[in-house]
Amino acid sequence: MDVSTAISQRSSVRAYKATDVEEDKLKKILEAARLSPSASNRQDWKFIVVRNKETRKRLANAAFGQSFIGEAPVVLVACGTEPKAIMACGQPAHTVDVSIACAFMILQAYELGLGTCWIGAFNEDETKKILNIPEHVRVVAVIPLGYPSQPPSQKFRKSLNEILCYEKYE
Ligand SMILES: Cc1cc2nc3c(=O)[nH]c(=O)nc-3n(C[C@H](O)[C@H](O)[C@H](O)COP(=O)(O)O)c2cc1C
Repeated sequence: MDVSTAISQRSSVRAYKATDVEEDKLKKILEAARLSPSASNRQDWKFIVVRNKETRKRLANAAFGQSFIGEAPVVLVACGTEPKAIMACGQPAHTVDVSIACAFMILQAYELGLGTCWIGAFNEDETKKILNIPEHVRVVAVIPLGYPSQPPSQKFRKSLNEILCYEKYE
């Protein structure tokens, strides 16, 4: 599969089969995060792989009861380990860096036939407690991972005309 196909065909998956994710596939997905770019190549991140069923359920509860998170055989929790680093443009580096790594993982997962859904609606304090994450570390995203049990949903996107301008902001 080429990158264009993965970008155009991927969609969020909110229903998963119980089938486990093979270790070699998981490793390839995590490798996509490891190889992704980061500000000044700092790589200030940590990715937690959760397979334990009880922990997955607790993470789903911490995500305001989005139960499909607990149904996925793997939940990835992506953290920024140095959240104080602010780039010259004013944006926190960890949010941008970890988000890029997550995007790479999501596309890699799709190529391998696996579904994901970016979860931003979670209670960070609760999530940190469940996983023993240190106080100073920030949780950027929670990503359930598994084989989809439903066909892909339709994509709704603004047209390029609506989101594009040339030479200056209009
Ligand atoms: C930053 C971010 C946070 C999101 N949070 C959630 C979430 O908490 N729960 C959920 O079901 N989907 C969540 N999504 C998925 C979006 O709803 C989804 O990507 C969007 O509707 C476009 O659909 P698609 O991914 O199928 O193309 C999130 C996506 C992003 C990028």
